[in-house]
Amino acid sequence: MKNVVSVVLAAGQSKRIKSNFQKIMHEVAGKPMIKHVIETLDAVPVPRNIVIINKAGTKTKNVLKEHKSVSFVFQNKQLGTGHAVMQAKKKLGSFKGITLVVCGDTPLLTVETLQRLINRHIAHKAAATILTTDMDNPYGYGRIIHNTDGSVQRIVEEKDALPEHKVITEINTGTYCFNNKYLFAALGKVTNKNKQGEYYLTDVIGILSQEGHVIEAEKTPDQDEAIGINTRRQLAQAQHILRYRILNRLMDNGVTVIDADNTFVDSEVKIGMDTIIYPFTFIRGHTVIGKVCQIGPQSELKDVKIGDNSKILMAVVSGSSVGNNVLIGPFSHIGHNTVIKDKANIGPGTSTSNFRGKKDAKIIIEEDVIIGANTNIVAPVKIGRGAVIAPGSLVTGNVPARSVYPLAKKK
Ligand code: UD1
Ligand code: CA
Repeated sequence: MKNVVSVVLAAGQSKRIKSNFQKIMHEVAGKPMIKHVIETLDAVPVPRNIVIINKAGTKTKNVLKEHKSVSFVFQNKQLGTGHAVMQAKKKLGSFKGITLVVCGDTPLLTVETLQRLINRHIAHKAAATILTTDMDNPYGYGRIIHNTDGSVQRIVEEKDALPEHKVITEINTGTYCFNNKYLFAALGKVTNKNKQGEYYLTDVIGILSQEGHVIEAEKTPDQDEAIGINTRRQLAQAQHILRYRILNRLMDNGVTVIDADNTFVDSEVKIGMDTIIYPFTFIRGHTVIGKVCQIGPQSELKDVKIGDNSKILMAVVSGSSVGNNVLIGPFSHIGHNTVIKDKANIGPGTSTSNFRGKKDAKIIIEEDVIIGANTNIVAPVKIGRGAVIAPGSLVTGNVPARSVYPLAKKK
């Protein structure tokens, strides 16, 4: 997609989500929504993505820093979506190609849908092509008004809609392709004479249509992917949809999920075949789990690497690595920087921690170690191969291989 540049709108005021944080920075399946959008654009691929940010945008810059395709433009006053796109004029004014406009609050859009939108735009040599969908509940979205011949006439925003517009279910997803030249020419003619006093990007459609340009609509059958997240309710709806997308992909690859309604897996997580995930389990961050493991019930794993055939029951494990054939018993807490090698048996209620606060201090539990229940291990510690730790121990120093801890007192 050489001749395509995107403008991603991420400078809005986030009023409706009622938050001290910007809307597009709220996470869906463990990742800020804006990051989902950029990853999708990178996968299309769109080689150049211009993200419009506001004063709070330093955080956005930070979460997108590894995306080489991205550059940023500030919108200092939030005067509407049309005004937001206008901020890219300096960068795009002389560009001869297709400008793809995407909202930062539509994280469920898929690569395939964007490709279909672009292909339709090219095939019809359109001035603008809108991604639309039929929404069961179109409230809040811009409605698509067609001419009697079926061509697109304009978009009417919810707040400006008359009763005859409100019954229309075909909505604007906020995603469009434009001929760049026509886009900026029409943006120059947009006014803010509407209920919200904003410069609407959507007015560009009416302007171009009136000037006799070809306007196309690519209607996607999947209304789920078109959700624009304005409120906490829509955020929950999007979480639900994305959660099932992730779980379905895992199940299709041979992972058993006992109760999908009560299993929460972040989008980056990888899980091997024949692993079983029991209910009330959260698997977060960049966790990688091998084959034939049993995870849960009631466990939380974050940024953990786990080998094959291991079992984790009702435990919290974070920032650690766990080998093959390991058992982690219930009510254990395995803190950062713990390395548990193959066939270790971690008894119930074990805690590994970096309580002394030594940076990067590690806890290494070698192969075949057996740790009795309710043991506390404080970094830095290495427990040698085959050592046995008695229940209720406090371990603050190294334990030799094949020893029993605490060592029996001499009589
Ligand atoms: C917009 C569309 C509506 C569409 C809906 C799809 C307009 C006028 N309306 O409405 O037709 O159905 O998206 O979800 O475009 N933003 C800025 N600067 C601004 C204003 C907004 O960057 O000055 C950004 C927001 O951060 C957001 C995106 O633009 O990511 C859309 O803005 P939002 O206020 O959510 O528009 P909607 O009311 O949802
Ligand atoms: Ca929106």
